[in-house]
Amino acid sequence: MLQTAQLENILKKYLSDQRIAHSRRVANLARDMAERHGIEWHKAYTAGLLHDIARDMEKEELVYIVKEHDLYHDPMELDMPILLHTHVGAWIVENELGIKDETILEAIRLHTLAAPQMDNLAKILYIADMLEPERNLPGADELLETAMDDLDKAMVHCLNSTLKYLIDNGMIIHPLSVEARNYFLKRLESDSFCQIF
Ligand SMILES: [Fe+2]
Ligand SMILES: [Fe+2]
Repeated sequence: MLQTAQLENILKKYLSDQRIAHSRRVANLARDMAERHGIEWHKAYTAGLLHDIARDMEKEELVYIVKEHDLYHDPMELDMPILLHTHVGAWIVENELGIKDETILEAIRLHTLAAPQMDNLAKILYIADMLEPERNLPGADELLETAMDDLDKAMVHCLNSTLKYLIDNGMIIHPLSVEARNYFLKRLESDSFCQIF
């Protein structure tokens, strides 16, 4: 596993200082959550530091890499190329940085849309990316407390917040995020489960 200083040097090749600062905050939060949930903290920290490695690439470059390496076939994501920074990021981490840990790669792939099959590391990265302090998400402190206690519950809150934002701003919702939200909602205790009809 590469050391933090090596990872930070690599990030300078790909990201602006601002984006590196965001990645550090996500990494710190992911590490804290991982320690709390008994997950190897260095994996969470590494995933946090590297999750946006492809985020500063041009849309054309993201689409080119995805097509060139046959990474993904979701037409909806190809229509919204910025979403592809997750798949391209995981590809860079695996092939250019030589990190083969599938849990780290999958967490990076799923950090924007989420998915029902997320493991705890992927949930932690998704939540840390949303709750990092500079985002100033309303209710972030309470949500962080929830995340320290129950990752599935925090996923429901985070996904609800994302879906509401997308609706309020007239933006397209990817069905994977809806599936993820419903999946984690169903996993909660039955008395917390409510269906809106
Ligand atoms: Fe991202
Ligand atoms: Fe991010």
